[in-house]
Amino acid sequence: MASIPVLLLLLVFLLSEYANAQRNHTNKISLGSSLSPKANRTSWLSPSGHFAFGFYPHGDGFAIGVWLINQTEKIVTWTAYLDYPPVYPNATLQLTRDGLQLRIGAANVSTYIADAPPGETASAATLDSGNFVLYNDSDVIWQTFDYPTDTILGGQNLSTGNELVSSVSKSDQSSGQFYLYMQYDGNLAAYPVKSSGLPYDIFWSSGTNNSGTDVMLTLSRSGVLSLRGDSLGGRILASSHYSDKKNGSIIYRATLDADGIFRLYSHHFESNNSSSMLVEWSSLANQCEVSGFCGWSSYCSGVGANNGPCKCYPGFDFVNSSNKFLGCYKNFNDNSCRRSEHPAMLYRIVPLENILWGDYPYSSVQMKKNDCGMSCLEDCNCGAVLYMSGACNKYKLPLRYSRASKNISAMAFFKVILKNITTPPIPLPPEIFGPKIERKRGLILILAITLGSISCLCFMFAIYTLFRYRHQVYRYRNLSENANLGLIEEFTLRSFSYNELEQATDGFKEELGKGTFGVVYKGTIPGGNKTIAVKRLERFVEEGHREFRTEITAIARTHHRNLVRLLGFCMEGSRKLLVYEYMSNGSLADLLFKAKMRPIWKERVRIARDVARGILYLHDECEVHVIHCNIKPQNILIDETWTAKISDFGLAKLLLPNQSKTAVEAERTAGYFYLAPEWKMNALISVKADIYSFGIVLLEIVCCRSSITVNVPTTDKIILSSWVYDCFMAGELEKLVEDENMDFMTLERMVKVGLWCIQEDPVLRPLMKNVILMLEGTMDVPVPPSPVGSLLDS
Ligand SMILES: *[C@@H]1O[C@H](CO)[C@@H](O)[C@H](O)[C@H]1NC(C)=O
Ligand SMILES: *[C@@H]1O[C@H](CO)[C@@H](O)[C@H](O)[C@H]1NC(C)=O
Ligand SMILES: *[C@@H]1O[C@H](CO)[C@@H](O)[C@H](O)[C@H]1NC(C)=O
Ligand SMILES: *[C@@H]1O[C@H](CO)[C@@H](O)[C@H](O)[C@H]1NC(C)=O
Ligand SMILES: *[C@@H]1O[C@H](CO)[C@@H](O)[C@H](O)[C@H]1NC(C)=O
Ligand SMILES: *[C@@H]1O[C@H](CO)[C@@H](O)[C@H](O)[C@H]1NC(C)=O
Ligand SMILES: *[C@@H]1O[C@H](CO)[C@@H](O)[C@H](O)[C@H]1NC(C)=O
Ligand SMILES: *[C@@H]1O[C@H](CO)[C@@H](O)[C@H](O)[C@H]1NC(C)=O
Ligand SMILES: *[C@@H]1O[C@H](CO)[C@@H](O)[C@H](O)[C@H]1NC(C)=O
Ligand SMILES: *[C@@H]1O[C@H](CO)[C@@H](O)[C@H](O)[C@H]1NC(C)=O
Ligand SMILES: *[C@@H]1O[C@H](CO)[C@@H](O)[C@H](O)[C@H]1NC(C)=O
Ligand SMILES: *[C@@H]1O[C@H](CO)[C@@H](O)[C@H](O)[C@H]1NC(C)=O
Repeated sequence: MASIPVLLLLLVFLLSEYANAQRNHTNKISLGSSLSPKANRTSWLSPSGHFAFGFYPHGDGFAIGVWLINQTEKIVTWTAYLDYPPVYPNATLQLTRDGLQLRIGAANVSTYIADAPPGETASAATLDSGNFVLYNDSDVIWQTFDYPTDTILGGQNLSTGNELVSSVSKSDQSSGQFYLYMQYDGNLAAYPVKSSGLPYDIFWSSGTNNSGTDVMLTLSRSGVLSLRGDSLGGRILASSHYSDKKNGSIIYRATLDADGIFRLYSHHFESNNSSSMLVEWSSLANQCEVSGFCGWSSYCSGVGANNGPCKCYPGFDFVNSSNKFLGCYKNFNDNSCRRSEHPAMLYRIVPLENILWGDYPYSSVQMKKNDCGMSCLEDCNCGAVLYMSGACNKYKLPLRYSRASKNISAMAFFKVILKNITTPPIPLPPEIFGPKIERKRGLILILAITLGSISCLCFMFAIYTLFRYRHQVYRYRNLSENANLGLIEEFTLRSFSYNELEQATDGFKEELGKGTFGVVYKGTIPGGNKTIAVKRLERFVEEGHREFRTEITAIARTHHRNLVRLLGFCMEGSRKLLVYEYMSNGSLADLLFKAKMRPIWKERVRIARDVARGILYLHDECEVHVIHCNIKPQNILIDETWTAKISDFGLAKLLLPNQSKTAVEAERTAGYFYLAPEWKMNALISVKADIYSFGIVLLEIVCCRSSITVNVPTTDKIILSSWVYDCFMAGELEKLVEDENMDFMTLERMVKVGLWCIQEDPVLRPLMKNVILMLEGTMDVPVPPSPVGSLLDS
């Protein structure tokens, strides 16, 4: 890279220029100033010369951020547009009245990095703390300190509802595998990004609790890392002592590193221009305690030293042997289990000592160690057992968060096949899915076309948004000023102030439920007397307000009878709330699993079709195609006319603007048992993931029970899909449904559709269009193969 020496020369040049101005400690950047990777000025330095804001080389182009200069390795403390591609060398940044404008070098396309109120920016500065700020004539109106990425610096806070996201690596600042979340309950907790964000996914936490008032993480300029809150006082996590050093010669930073460990660093600047870096504190000493450090079906052993800590379970191989962090896959095919009279004869048990993992067992029974292994051999659902203090815990595969250590007393047994029996794949009826080979080619073609048109759409949408944005800001502003305004034609979306919603919900008094994105409260719009549901978003990953607005606008454009309607939103600082129509009959989960009066068969059939139509609209019919990523009975609501409506769509990101980010978001928010297998295998996520979740929900609607229930007379009924398949193969479908007025033809059709939808191989799952035709009886439903094992068959 020839540009690096050039950049260094430029830095030197800038430094000498800065030295002349050193007596004036403001380094104020005036309106009209600009930066560009190929111009003389590529960054704006802080008065001390330790921090720079501007363009730095990244990938095959440049990224924009704040970094510490003159370090042996690049220490980036803030990055704009984390997951966007690098910009061309002809990109420019210019300070304008409306904020910091970025021209990416493609024609006249521009956007604003600094989301400051339009028309108010007067100047900017890179401060000695590493904070890059925009000023109006008197105050700070925007600062990078409000949008932390993976680091907080001395003087910076991480306030409630915000999070740090680790980088991919030291040299790649894109978002990586872990996040550290300052929770509303006062706990600071670290999670793997690919998790449901449930308490059991936490691998490190501060253990603080706040009883209702906000708590924030603070790093002082003197190196004290602490949690502060009204009820908590100050809880010190780490502090360092260098009282003899002169002010400003040490810079502290707390970073959630790429390996998932949160560390406090100090950088010491000597008067002879040399500098050094020390680790002052680490959240965890053992790398293996970081959940998700090793992928699915692999375990972390020892203390996770760099030389290959991840190992596969017995009977598994690495997904990619040159990147052992990606996890393992089962190297044998076990769909013969269900077809065999004596399944125990097909397998042997391989023990593994001192190991533990994080998933839920589907059964836990007290028994002897040897019987524990045997009980797994005989159970086709069982992939492994964990024997722990006299209890035998059975697990379905795949498993995650595993680690081995001498201190762990649990013992595991894995079921491994004796002989790899390959069974001929079940031929597929060509009328629906096409011949096998054609099918694959067809899929690639369809995928290519879909992805192509989607990216095209996204690009057009992005450009449209860029041009439209300025206009919209004023529109929204006018909206908020005029509080009693009715619905606006174009977006039919109203902007509320926080106070209005606080009043409407009577101080967030009546809680309707707790979803993945936050708590939902009941409220009434004053005047209109309309009942509403207000969702307070607790963790919304978007950094800027612009992205949030864009997504909300897109959600507001979806109109369908089977989708819950978004009425408005509120956005004040980090507070983000969504206002939905109120659904008086609660969720499908309550109706199916809890209600005293379960809905009758006919009602359930209708609800199933309602849900299918809602999904079809999201996948195929609405303006911007949406993968819901989080379909489960808790997200299906019932209105006063008993119409089922899907909620929470669009929040898991609009369809594929960035594949990896979508997957990450969705995985983080989806219910564990409704997740399609491809999530767990780092595979490409498509609409077929929703089809899988729909299949599970469909079987739940048919049988009126949850997909996993431990409270059943025999173990073969624990996992709904296995039980349904067994009943289907045995011709005993009537066992599934207790209703008297059940219509057998419809039952059989629904079960068959459900089984097609939950095929392990996404290719085999039908599209929503066909699901509806099959449910309605317009299209014949072929006999489905076993849901498990289809991936290895094909
Ligand atoms: C420093 O710069 C500010 C604004 O540019 C100016 O008002 C001030 O007089 C300068 N101070 C010195 C000591 O030059
Ligand atoms: C860069 O600086 C040199 C000398 O100071 C000047 O001649 C040249 O025009 C400048 N280039 C740009 C792109 O501003
Ligand atoms: C950075 O390094 C350059 C040359 O290597 C030196 O001239 C400059 O003073 C250093 N800056 C700081 C802030 O130490
Ligand atoms: C900026 O550079 C890119 C790639 O080198 C090029 O495609 C683009 O046309 C350039 N834009 C302008 C305005 O020169
Ligand atoms: C880009 O914008 C400038 C001024 O804003 C205008 O003069 C020029 O015609 C525009 N170019 C294109 C290709 O739209
Ligand atoms: C600058 O911004 C602050 C905070 O947003 C505001 O209170 C103040 O009135 C603004 N000053 C000017 C001169 O616009
Ligand atoms: C961090 O929090 C402290 C205490 O509330 C506050 O004084 C300080 O201004 C905050 N810092 C930033 C950058 O917001
Ligand atoms: C936090 O404290 C409240 C009462 O002060 C208690 O009910 C709650 O269980 C505590 N939460 C945790 C996570 O300890
Ligand atoms: C550092 O600055 C603080 C106030 O900003 C002052 O109280 C302290 O005496 C200074 N320490 C040294 C060693 O200069
Ligand atoms: C440190 O860097 C400054 C600015 O470049 C220079 O004036 C000074 O002589 C350097 N000090 C040493 C000890 O090299
Ligand atoms: C700079 O000074 C520190 C201590 O003051 C010393 O340890 C270090 O070796 C010096 N570095 C150079 C390059 O002289
Ligand atoms: C079992 O068969 C599958 C293909 O059917 C093959 O990929 C796998 O490597 C085989 N495993 C063993 C242990 O032979």
